[in-house]
Amino acid sequence: MDAALAAARRGVRGANPLVGAAVLAPDGTIVTGHHRGAGTPHAEPDALAAARAAGIDLTASVVCVTLEPCTHHGRTGPCTDLLIEAGVPEVVVAVADPNPSAAGGCARLRDAGVTVRTGVRESEARALNARWLQAVGERRPYVTLKMAQSLDGRIAAADGTSQWITSPASRERVHTLRARVDAVVVGTGTAHADDPRLTARPASEAPGSNPVAVTRPDSGTQSNPHTQSVPDTQPGPATQPVPVTQPVPVAVGMRDLAPDSHLARDPRTVHLRTRDPLAALQTLRERGLEHVLVEGGAHLAGAFLRAGVVDELELHIAPMLLGDGLPGLADLGVSTLAEAIRWIPDDTPAGVSPVSSPDSHRGNPDTILRLRPAETPEPTQTPGATPTSVSFPAPEAAETPEPTQTPDPTPAPEPTKGR
Ligand SMILES: NC(=O)c1ccc[n+]([C@@H]2O[C@H](COP(=O)([O-])OP(=O)(O)OC[C@H]3O[C@@H](n4cnc5c(N)ncnc54)[C@H](OP(=O)(O)O)[C@@H]3O)[C@@H](O)[C@H]2O)c1
Repeated sequence: MDAALAAARRGVRGANPLVGAAVLAPDGTIVTGHHRGAGTPHAEPDALAAARAAGIDLTASVVCVTLEPCTHHGRTGPCTDLLIEAGVPEVVVAVADPNPSAAGGCARLRDAGVTVRTGVRESEARALNARWLQAVGERRPYVTLKMAQSLDGRIAAADGTSQWITSPASRERVHTLRARVDAVVVGTGTAHADDPRLTARPASEAPGSNPVAVTRPDSGTQSNPHTQSVPDTQPGPATQPVPVTQPVPVAVGMRDLAPDSHLARDPRTVHLRTRDPLAALQTLRERGLEHVLVEGGAHLAGAFLRAGVVDELELHIAPMLLGDGLPGLADLGVSTLAEAIRWIPDDTPAGVSPVSSPDSHRGNPDTILRLRPAETPEPTQTPGATPTSVSFPAPEAAETPEPTQTPDPTPAPEPTKGR
């Protein structure tokens, strides 16, 4: 399970959690697989393929998975069925899947005669996906907040100009991030100030030209009816209609959108007339949107942070000072140091390139920080929501021994550090 956990850390968080799997062969050889983000194969088929490639006899091996194998039909079929068909005699699981559409995998394996052990390294596996588990429990999408700001924390100059504070490389990264998520969310203030389109396209593109053909693979879990593949028929340099998979543009706030704005004219735009971040997110989740990117502005970002619904924070800091410009966050609700909302570095891959960090600029003058909440409070249960703390079905006593040391394990690969 240590090897499976290390493999999981090489994946990308978002609509789907970080999941790793390890196959332990009878001779002590361990091979691993991991899930690389929504739309890619799950960890189990990845590990089974690696084991087959290594010539490992799966009918005499133990498979360890950090999350209960799923029972639903995604890109590669239910992982439980793959394990059963492969003839794996024993499966060890760290955490139960709280997602109703995926749960029940352990019971299904047991029904098929597979020996199942659960709860092994559960706290580590739970910590790995604490915020994802919280989002599922709150019946809302996983939330990434991106902020582009100056060194002194401003997101616009005193006269309101804000395009562009960050570099083309950082903006290109934002468009790659947009292509990874199901929806891009702004407040009505930003909608009015910037008239954004919220599409995924190259940053170098001139205004008015076509979005790039960004196609996210089909979801590994369920299809998203709102992330549509639409023909790109807008005027621009493209000669052929290009299939484009774009995030759903979302505006949050009571004010009307300007009728001639890009968002108002986009038939896919969702305008949520609310000021309640959790309610807005739950509405988006009900529409099948599982990962959203919040792009500001100051009031909406402050509201989401204050509500504790930001799972991932990406800060793009440009080397400039804007003095009396617009602060990046408004009404955060912090009045004393003890109330500070603290963050820690997230060293799992973002699934995005190009990248930069304080120690590796790679041509980008901006500093990019990827952070996750320092403390994840115990998930609060929303009325009617699926509890996050999901326990496994009561197992047979003989099937739940204390976690044991794996015999002579191959050293687990190091988690990816930085980018
Ligand atoms: N550098 C960057 O990365 C970046 C990104 C985005 C924006 N910006 C800049 O930020 C500025 C706009 O910021 P902003 O703060 O004015 O606009 P904003 O945060 O985009 O929108 C504010 C509006 O959001 C709505 N809202 C929804 N829920 C809310 C809540 N819980 N609390 C408060 N408001 C809520 C309200 O609209 P209603 O009044 O309609 O209810 C409010 O007026 C622009 O200058 C833009 O260029 C910069």
